[in-house]
Amino acid sequence: MDYIMIKELKKRNLLLFFLLSTASAGCFLPTNKLITVIGTGYVGLVTGAGFASLGNQVICADVNTEKINMLQEKGKIPFFEPGLEELVHTVVSTGHLSFTSNVDYAVANANILVIAVGTPSQADGHADLTALFKVLDTIIGTINSYKIIVVKSTVPLTTNKTIEQYILDKGIDHSLFDIVSNPEFLREGSAVYDFLNPDRVVIGSNNQSAAKCIADLYKPLKDGTVPLIITDTTSAELIKYASNAFLATKISFINEIANLCDRVNADIVTVAKGMGLDVRINNYFLNPGPGFGGSCFPKDSLELCATALANNVPLEIVQASLVVNDNQQALPVKKVKDMMGSDLKGKTVAILGLSFKANTDDIRYSPAIKTIELLQQELVTIKAYDPVAMYNMSLLFPAITYCNSIDDAVYNADAIVILTEWDEFKCIDWHKVRSQVRQPYLVDMRNIVDPIMCMNQDFIYEGVGRGLYKK
Ligand code: UGA
Repeated sequence: MDYIMIKELKKRNLLLFFLLSTASAGCFLPTNKLITVIGTGYVGLVTGAGFASLGNQVICADVNTEKINMLQEKGKIPFFEPGLEELVHTVVSTGHLSFTSNVDYAVANANILVIAVGTPSQADGHADLTALFKVLDTIIGTINSYKIIVVKSTVPLTTNKTIEQYILDKGIDHSLFDIVSNPEFLREGSAVYDFLNPDRVVIGSNNQSAAKCIADLYKPLKDGTVPLIITDTTSAELIKYASNAFLATKISFINEIANLCDRVNADIVTVAKGMGLDVRINNYFLNPGPGFGGSCFPKDSLELCATALANNVPLEIVQASLVVNDNQQALPVKKVKDMMGSDLKGKTVAILGLSFKANTDDIRYSPAIKTIELLQQELVTIKAYDPVAMYNMSLLFPAITYCNSIDDAVYNADAIVILTEWDEFKCIDWHKVRSQVRQPYLVDMRNIVDPIMCMNQDFIYEGVGRGLYKK
């Protein structure tokens, strides 16, 4: 807007009206983007470090002072995520990323506020938005200039609309903020790679300028070729939920087919390969296993089902995928019993892998939890080994034995159960292990071991959907 135009508007006493009415149409959009990310979980930290690596000025804020001190003073990431510590060190050293536990300060000193706090499940399946609304209250109490509030946390349908109304109801003028829903699709274990190489960027807002401003943050990625969806906030929210529920359903589907393979002597590895070559199906998420876990698929499927039911549209397929998953998580112990007989009392079982998948120390909804619970009911001695998740699991199950190595875990075991597809487990010397175990029962819930090689080492082997291998 040039000076003459401003003068003209002033003359007509229209400047104030213009500023107020166009603020939410994007006229105050920042040219110098200062980003604050609130929440330093794996989404917040990866997003903050990722945006910083693209040349933005970023503050990562969290009310958890212990976490912030760890990041600030020791440069330590509070969880295991490959490549993240290195990325954080780099962007801190270039001055693009800083940390604070003073959220007020972080809010006041940014024009883009990214909310990335947890939204865990409550008992009724609905997401708990307490942390999110706490952040909003902080923003409301601090807001001093126009901010784009970006919701990255996975939130139930229509939450972004509720947030907008909540802020307005607290007396904050719309000229001071816009809401943008920007769901994330990062996978734990490959979150840094996923941030830098997204399949798509989804942005929901009722303000096109704010949407574009956030979309521009992603422009440097993949030379600007990342497909971009700009839509309303509720559609953006649903893209996130429907994607996770669809992937979860795909896993439950292949798990059921694998269980059928076990009964009819078909080989799931070949079946999945044959299916996945059809480009309409594709080969991703067709690996059978001990059931899906993690903080997202179970929680998001539950939330979507609860919301849909409340809208009188029960999502029967998604509900079924959760039921199938519950049964699948009980399968490792069932397989052990089928092999060894139903009375496991006094036996020793070695569990290899505690995290819900490889490359993470996250144990939330991990199939290992149900496996341990069921084995404890059978009065089994449990020895467990995981490269990084033992500390987290010990908080939940302090009484089982945590071992420092695979060797320690399998020593004198009656059965070995592989639950996580860690690389370390893919190159186990089974000849050596055979000499360490008491009985040669092996349940491979990730199909990462060569069954014939194991059988030749005198193991009695069962994977998922591969049948029983026994000499
Ligand atoms: C998932 C989605 O993949 C991400 O796109 C999404 O951003 C994230 O949830 C989220 O909502 O935050 P994540 O939970 O980290 O990511 O892990 P996945 O790699 O998707 O695996 C989820 C579960 O499915 C794991 O238990 C894994 O072992 C299992 N899985 C996956 C299988 O059993 N078979 C497969 O073929 C693939």
